[in-house]
Amino acid sequence: MLVFVDLVAAYAAEGFAVSTGLNPTAFHNLHSVPFTWLVRDGVEVADGLGISLPEIYLLECLAVVQPAESILVIGNSFGWSTLALAIAQPQARVVGLDSAADRYSLEGLELTARLAERLNLHHVYPVRGTSPEDIPATVEERLDGRIDLAFVDGYHTSQQIVAEYRALRPFLTPTAMVLFHDVQYTGLQSGFDTIVEESGWQGTMLHATPSGIGFLTNEPSPALARVIAAFATDPSALEVVRKKGERFHAEFGS
Ligand SMILES: C[S@@+](CC[C@H](N)C(=O)[O-])C[C@H]1O[C@@H](n2cnc3c(N)ncnc32)[C@H](O)[C@@H]1O
Repeated sequence: MLVFVDLVAAYAAEGFAVSTGLNPTAFHNLHSVPFTWLVRDGVEVADGLGISLPEIYLLECLAVVQPAESILVIGNSFGWSTLALAIAQPQARVVGLDSAADRYSLEGLELTARLAERLNLHHVYPVRGTSPEDIPATVEERLDGRIDLAFVDGYHTSQQIVAEYRALRPFLTPTAMVLFHDVQYTGLQSGFDTIVEESGWQGTMLHATPSGIGFLTNEPSPALARVIAAFATDPSALEVVRKKGERFHAEFGS
C-alpha cells in the first residue's frame, strides 16, 4: 500500500480534506504548515496536528529495515500516525492511546476504528487511556507485554516524556525503537537528553523531520543505522546550512 496516498483517500472518504507538507514561506511563515491538518466543512478539526509527510516516509523506511510486531502510539488524535504505522506494518498490532485531552480526540478514536476497517487493517486498537499511568495495562492487554516500536506524541513537556519513557522501559524489546515526536518543535531537548542518559541507548536527533524527532534505540543493525544517519543529516552538511542561515538572519532578520 502507498501510505500517504491511501491515508489521504481514506480520510477523504470520511469527509476530511487533508493538508500536509506545505512550504511555510508560501503561508506567511507559519511554522506548523508542514504538519498534517485535517479540515471538515472548511474548519480545522484536530487541535494536535498530525505528523508531516517526511515523517511518514521515515516510518516507511523503518518498516522496511526493521519490521515490528508490537507498536504503541501515545497521542492518537485523529489516527493519522497510528494508521500510517499500521499501513506501513500490516503484520503488526498497533495501539493508538489517547486520553481525549484534546477537544476532538474522543471522536478521533472512533474515526480511527472506522478508518482501520475501511483500510482493511485488522490489528489497529484505538484505546482511550492516559499516559503514562495506563501504559502498563494497555501493553499487557493489547500487545502481549512487548513493544518493538513506540511513537511518543501526547502531552509535550520534558517531564512527561521522561515519565513516559520510564513507563515504556520494562516492555521494550532489546532492539526496540522509540520515537519522540516534536522534540525540537516544542523544546523537549532536556527531556530527551535525560532519557538518552538514563537508557544508555543511542539517541539521535533526526533533523530531516520537520518536528525534530528524537530517536532512541540500542545497537542498531547496519540497515537501521543507515536510515538513522540519513534522517539525522550529515553533520558537515548541517553546518553549511546552519552557517548560511546565520548569515541570512544577520542580513535580513527572521
Ligand atoms: C499532537 S496530538 C497527536 C497527533 C498524532 N500523533 C498524529 O500524528 O495524528 C496529541 C494527542 O495527545 C493526546 N494526549 C495529551 N495528553 C495525553 C496523555 N497524557 N495521554 C494520552 N494522550 C494524551 C491529546 O488528546 C491529542 O489527541
